Amino acid sequence: MKYFSYKENELHCEDVPLSELVEEFGTPLYVYSKNQILENFREVTTAGGTSYTVCYALKANSNSAILKLLASEGAGADVVSAGEIHLALKAGFAPEKIVFAGVGKREDEIEYALSKGVGYFNVESTQELQLISLVALRLNTKARISLRINPDIDAESHPYISTGMKHNKFGIEADHAVEAFTTAMSLPAIEVVGIHTHIGSQITKVEPYIETAKFIVALIDKLREQKISLSHIDIGGGFGVQYINALTHEALPVEQNTNGVIVSVKDFLGSILPIFEPTGCSIWIEPGRSIVANAGALLTNVLYLKDNSARKFVIVDAGMNDLLRPSLYSAYHQIVPLKIETYEHEKVDVVGPVCETGDFLARDRMLSKLKRGDALAVLTAGAYGFVTTSNYNARPRPAEVLVNGEKVRVIRERETFDNLG
Ligand code: LLP
Repeated sequence: MKYFSYKENELHCEDVPLSELVEEFGTPLYVYSKNQILENFREVTTAGGTSYTVCYALKANSNSAILKLLASEGAGADVVSAGEIHLALKAGFAPEKIVFAGVGKREDEIEYALSKGVGYFNVESTQELQLISLVALRLNTKARISLRINPDIDAESHPYISTGMKHNKFGIEADHAVEAFTTAMSLPAIEVVGIHTHIGSQITKVEPYIETAKFIVALIDKLREQKISLSHIDIGGGFGVQYINALTHEALPVEQNTNGVIVSVKDFLGSILPIFEPTGCSIWIEPGRSIVANAGALLTNVLYLKDNSARKFVIVDAGMNDLLRPSLYSAYHQIVPLKIETYEHEKVDVVGPVCETGDFLARDRMLSKLKRGDALAVLTAGAYGFVTTSNYNARPRPAEVLVNGEKVRVIRERETFDNLG
């Protein structure tokens, strides 16, 4: 995370001291670095060394300013609802580079996607396939589709974000793949273009991808024997990012890294793209987290410190409604002070104001010693952060700002009481 760094003991986003943003916009506040997003996107587009299409997964962060930025860089879009199609088109993504995924597409969403000319559908069941064909017939058009196949491969990520195993709801079971492709070929308003897999998110090892790539190539060969030839392969997203020790400074505690070394996007793509080469298919990828996660932080203020005989609590003004990941997945986000004022550390729970025991940002965590009024940054919060906020406990959603060098732009106003109820 090059663009969040300490300069003279003050945490900056690009050239802006974050304490200034806290003063001006209040907390909780999401802050994003424009240049980090651009750098991440450019890295993902060039890391593979060959040509492939990068469709940004809007679900990771769908702020319109960020979408416009990525659309202007030529990104495609991976969307999972009519709402996301709407946002993608509004931001300027080319319709033919929009990929419509999702296990439960409604009929009106299918119709909307077809009427807007999205590139193709990633289809997750034969019933969905039949409905898409019916809607396309009614609209007197053809739907381009890929079938999402569930390869039954363990991505070795958190169970809630592993999607490629038999017991997961996603995709068509591998054993039924040939049959599903044969059905797809027989439908009048369907044009079969490819195969889709997405085995999970925050994947840190390359082996599950290699296994998936080999599975895809074998399936394509099998389909060719049946005279079904595909022109593209969509391997989904899922590249993991570094959450632990994302930022280092001699005053900060160093966390034991339980994740090991996280494979770089370059190594991920470098290991799988050559496997696909003999197929001659065009390659599509759908990264979300790897483009925005380390470009964002959530700023929060320490409201109170509370000591009971069992624990020390740091009570902050950002809760699970502002960042759900720790509560939902016990996800780790590094938490650091905006100003380095001490080299002393202590073990604490960082908890929010929401009336739930599960409302925490960190548990049993060594942090720099804090006091009331200190401001903190919860790092690597650019992906699956703001998009999962809610008004639970009638808490207005935070504002979002985008930093570019010394410039700061509000890209979403803080909600007010008018947004509640
Ligand atoms: N393509 C498909 C079909 C997906 O389901 C996803 C993410 C992506 C692409 C993008 O994956 P990424 O590159 O961001 O890993 N809320 C969870 C993550 C849920 C991921 C859902 N699908 C979290 O906060 O960790």
